[in-house]
Amino acid sequence: MKYLLGVDLGTSGTKTVLFDIHGNSIASASVEYPLYQPKNGWAEQEPEDWWQAAVTTIRTVIEKSGVDAGDIAGLSLSGQMHGLVLTDDNGNALGRSIIWCDNRTIEECDEFTRLVGGREHLIQIAANPALTGFTAGKVLWVRRHQPEIWEKARHIQLPKDYVRLKLTGVYHMEMSDASGTNLLDVPNRCWSQEICEKIGLDMRMLPPLVESCDVAGYITQEAAKLTGLKAGMPVAAGAGDNMAAAIGTGVVREGKAFTTIGTSGVIFAHSDSVQIDPAGRVHTFCSAVPGGYVVMGVGLAAGLSLKWCRDTFFQAEIQVAKDMGTDSYVLMNQEADKSPIGANRLIYLPYLMGERSPILDPESRGAFIGLSAMHTRQDIVRSVMEGVMYSQWHNLNVLRGMHVAPEAMLACGGGAKSPFWRQMMADMYGMPVSILQNTEGPALGAAILAGVGAGIYKDVPSACDQILKESDPLLPDEKRHAAYEPYFDLYQKLYPALKESFHTLANL
Ligand code: XUL
Repeated sequence: MKYLLGVDLGTSGTKTVLFDIHGNSIASASVEYPLYQPKNGWAEQEPEDWWQAAVTTIRTVIEKSGVDAGDIAGLSLSGQMHGLVLTDDNGNALGRSIIWCDNRTIEECDEFTRLVGGREHLIQIAANPALTGFTAGKVLWVRRHQPEIWEKARHIQLPKDYVRLKLTGVYHMEMSDASGTNLLDVPNRCWSQEICEKIGLDMRMLPPLVESCDVAGYITQEAAKLTGLKAGMPVAAGAGDNMAAAIGTGVVREGKAFTTIGTSGVIFAHSDSVQIDPAGRVHTFCSAVPGGYVVMGVGLAAGLSLKWCRDTFFQAEIQVAKDMGTDSYVLMNQEADKSPIGANRLIYLPYLMGERSPILDPESRGAFIGLSAMHTRQDIVRSVMEGVMYSQWHNLNVLRGMHVAPEAMLACGGGAKSPFWRQMMADMYGMPVSILQNTEGPALGAAILAGVGAGIYKDVPSACDQILKESDPLLPDEKRHAAYEPYFDLYQKLYPALKESFHTLANL
């Protein structure tokens, strides 16, 4: 039997999973690392922590599984996107990485957009506007504020590229993650010479581009000694986390889509051709399927909203759940189910962290609209869950407007464990919602990419067909869909009505 390794380099930690070639997980290991927030709105991590976590988890998984390293056919990586890792002549990281959820670059993003020739022109080339989370603003920020680091920098890498560099000794970047740099010509799948010239960036700093399932290098002797892997084992390039999750959930063809309710909420659809929203409200990235594209909306506070609600209003349930040996969210779902659709005329806006898609407003904030003395905790939790789903529905309608119209939805992330939330999703979207039997998403996606690279599978879509099994879907109910509609209409009008107040509040 041959095996494949998927390394999922996340924000809270790295999880490595060993799969057999049928997609069954054999062993897994996780290591957490710190997130540094030296100032309000800043977010940094140590590339060395990512490397050590990869080494430890790979070694642990091999030991735990008892599998002979010679039977592991390949490895690949899923990575948190957008983080800037600068390396010197010897491939050593120059200080901490400024990561995806850092917001320090508002000025640099404006400057970048101006230098490139305006927002519309930038979107034509890079398929996306300059967002503070993306990499280019971080490049300009380091160049301006840390000239001593910039002078030594020779290569620009993304988080998982750095780990792959340490495993293989070779510089590469792959299309899906490169799409989140604002430096890639997304429709043509190449670095944009025009953008680099206009911002004065030496193109030699950008690594050669490959597709996600291409073999990007082989395990070096040194990496083999550290990890327990066999020297010479192929390492496929891998993908940005959402694109890897798409492979791990089989979203690899037109009509296929997933919604993740994790800390953030993501709605993600595959498209065979490049589709760009001229207003830049949702992201267009290259897919991890060679030649394919994805359109994706990111809401920053999905599960985070429910967690906030739990920690603020449901302390008692946390205790009761502990005593009963169950999950506090299960008890909260039961409470939410006692409130009717529309939560007795209470609407929640989930912009606790500001918002990305579709309103792109870091200064927006959460709100309860319609709060009355008759409302209970049941209404509050239901309105929070509904508000999170309205925000995903909002993004789904942007996708539909771009003619990227999924026919069915896969639900992923912690929120997908809730049948109540999944039924709400089916009713609001008006489409069937399924879950997958294997919930390893990004790590499995990475392993599938490794398997294609190593020649175990013919290509990505056929590997997904072989491996992934969906549950029976929850079907939408027309009456409930119609009942949600007037609330959703109102939800969409609330942000435009409150926008100015949010900005005034942010600047008081
Ligand atoms: C995507 C994004 C996140 C990060 C971290 O644009 O910012 O998915 O990759 O998970």
